[in-house]
Amino acid sequence: MPSYHSMATLPPVPGYKPGDILVLFGELFGRGYANGLVEEARRLGMTILGTTVGRRDSDGTLRPLTVDELTEAETLLGGTIINIPLEAGFDLETPDGQPSISEQLKKAKPDDWQQVTFPADFLAKAQVAGKTRFTAHMATLAAELERRIPAGANILFAHTMAGGIPRARFFMPLLNRVFKGTGDKYLASSPFWESGVGQLCDASFNEVTADTFRYLLEGTTALRQRATAAGARVAYTAYGYHGTGILQNGEYRWQSYTPYLQGFAKIRLETIAAEARQQGINATVFNCPEIQTNSSALFLGVELSLYPLLHALRAVAGASAAALEARCAAMLQEGTTLNELLAHADAYLSNPLITAPLDFASWPQHSTKEQMELMLATSTHLLSLHRDPKQLVCAELSRLVFRATGRLIVQGSWSSKEAAVWLNHDLLAQLMADPRGADLLN
Ligand SMILES: NC(=O)c1ccc[n+]([C@@H]2O[C@H](COP(=O)([O-])OP(=O)(O)OC[C@H]3O[C@@H](n4cnc5c(N)ncnc54)[C@H](O)[C@@H]3O)[C@@H](O)[C@H]2O)c1
Repeated sequence: MPSYHSMATLPPVPGYKPGDILVLFGELFGRGYANGLVEEARRLGMTILGTTVGRRDSDGTLRPLTVDELTEAETLLGGTIINIPLEAGFDLETPDGQPSISEQLKKAKPDDWQQVTFPADFLAKAQVAGKTRFTAHMATLAAELERRIPAGANILFAHTMAGGIPRARFFMPLLNRVFKGTGDKYLASSPFWESGVGQLCDASFNEVTADTFRYLLEGTTALRQRATAAGARVAYTAYGYHGTGILQNGEYRWQSYTPYLQGFAKIRLETIAAEARQQGINATVFNCPEIQTNSSALFLGVELSLYPLLHALRAVAGASAAALEARCAAMLQEGTTLNELLAHADAYLSNPLITAPLDFASWPQHSTKEQMELMLATSTHLLSLHRDPKQLVCAELSRLVFRATGRLIVQGSWSSKEAAVWLNHDLLAQLMADPRGADLLN
């Protein structure tokens, strides 16, 4: 696992220019991190080539997008999508004609989660089938990219995929108990993770969140070599999460959301980047702060460490953050101030129930009942201080973070030397206080 390396200063100005290519490896949806990459690549005049997960027909067949779906997806992206279904994972595979994992889970009861297991050879065959399908589609994608990308163009491959919860209703009540359960509903993440269904999630997360980065690196070898031989640069980036440095009591401190069960796969992702670096490939996992997106909606409380971004902005950007502060303050209930909101978040983030279990070397940590109850109650309380549950301070800050990290990742990818770097709150504030990022605050 690469060591903790916080990007301390803004990256050197990159040499990307019109005609260079951003390949977005993962479909763009509404309000996710990848929007920041697309915005920055467009600002630099790069050409954007997108991909799609594809769609499943009602009989389960994975297919490319229809003409209408493609038009909609390309409009959202503002670029061309190469219409090859890049869904990763193995939950719907039917090795030897046996029912898929998702199909088999239809008969399982969530209360019996400790007893649910799958034979090891069935799982292994499903995994091979999923990998074979994905890498075959990857090869078709690579051939298409070779056809479309001019030899001398610089290329930035940006991996955004993360997920892998097997598609079965069975998991919904269980994961709600793991991530949102209090009192009798609380389910500790450790026994869940050690169980048969937990280990199934582990394998599935590894495949979707981490191994797809390896398939991308391997599948684009010929394209990379062609570009490098023509004097162009090729960079690979992936979004990681491995805790974030936030400003607390005057100093930046690493902290993390608990229980982040995707963390095991994120460490694997960092290891894949480190292996690629050993082969001379410019591959970097950019570890990003906790924000609210479609993917993080299940994790109530993940947003609590986002509030102190306002401390970092006050410390560095000062008056230029005034308009942002005013927008945030206007979202709060009559009589509630931003300082009160921040004081609540700070009290939570410095509570020993939250800080004591955190340890970088043994990350990710499992949950405890008291920690979860404090996290969920604080999250709910802070949300209740808003006027409108659809107009949240954290939504405003999330947008700021995905735009700022997008700029830092595109620019940082050009000359990156690390397998994993952390984009912490200090760097985001630094960017926004600098002419290179001041527009983000508007
Ligand atoms: N939200 C956060 O707090 C946070 C923090 C740090 C890093 N990240 C990372 O940022 C990246 C983007 O996530 P996001 O939060 O913007 O959410 P998102 O929902 O916008 O992005 C998730 C991406 O994963 C893809 N995906 C999901 N399942 C897939 C599958 N089976 N096969 C192929 N692709 C699949 C989706 O198409 C989408 O492109 C992820 O790697 C995520 O782990 C998120």
